[in-house]
Amino acid sequence: MNSPKYFAVVPAAGVGKRMQADRPKQYLPLQNQTVIECTLTRLLQADVFTTIAVAISAEDPYWPELDISKHAKILTAAGGKERADSVLSALKSLENQVQADDWVLVHDAARPCITSGDMHKLIETLKNDATGGILALPSHDTLKQVNGDNIQSTLDRRTVWRALTPQMFRYGVLKQALQQTQGNLAITDEASALELTGLPAKIVEGRPDNIKITQPEDLLLAQFYLEQQ
Ligand code: CTP
Ligand code: MG
Repeated sequence: MNSPKYFAVVPAAGVGKRMQADRPKQYLPLQNQTVIECTLTRLLQADVFTTIAVAISAEDPYWPELDISKHAKILTAAGGKERADSVLSALKSLENQVQADDWVLVHDAARPCITSGDMHKLIETLKNDATGGILALPSHDTLKQVNGDNIQSTLDRRTVWRALTPQMFRYGVLKQALQQTQGNLAITDEASALELTGLPAKIVEGRPDNIKITQPEDLLLAQFYLEQQ
């Protein structure tokens, strides 16, 4: 048997509503390029992926203007209504070059501070696993279960982690889980699709600087982290 290959899927078809900018956040400037160029450059530099499939909205005028959209290792796929639809579409675009046991690392376009170190840690930890898992962060704050603004109880911090990306799963397993759960709005990451199908996924502790650009202040924070790295 050949050893499994590694593919990346980058959902980049969101509109960035919470960012309140004049364009989707993946096209805002960061370190003399755009956010998505930072992210894709880092994935290319990890030097593990056979192909990187990027899900892009049909109405996106920015992507075709970027040189990186024509990179030999980058494949453009159609975006979907929800993030999970975009991921499924990108997975399907890889169909003719991937085997069920190959690995797919799904990584948000909006996380430009991902390091090669974290990608390789995820791969090394999970490469012999049957299913896969995700980068995640333990919570430093005390966590409250609430109802409206009323505190109900305190959660055991050791049992709650924050899900990041990349999320790494076997191609066949992930595609089937996303197909089975299609249309379910509770699926906000790949691991939640796996959870609903009852398959176990692992957590691997990631770096806290792997932030997702969500609100305006996050862009400055990303700039700071990139300078520090
Ligand atoms: N995404 C996608 N397809 C969608 C929705 C989101 O590919 N239909 C992508 C985004 O482009 C982003 C990633 O999924 O890279 C994480 O989503 P999020 O941070 O929620 O981005 P947006 O949906 O663009 O932002 P917002 O929720 O504020 O509108
Ligand atoms: Mg969103």
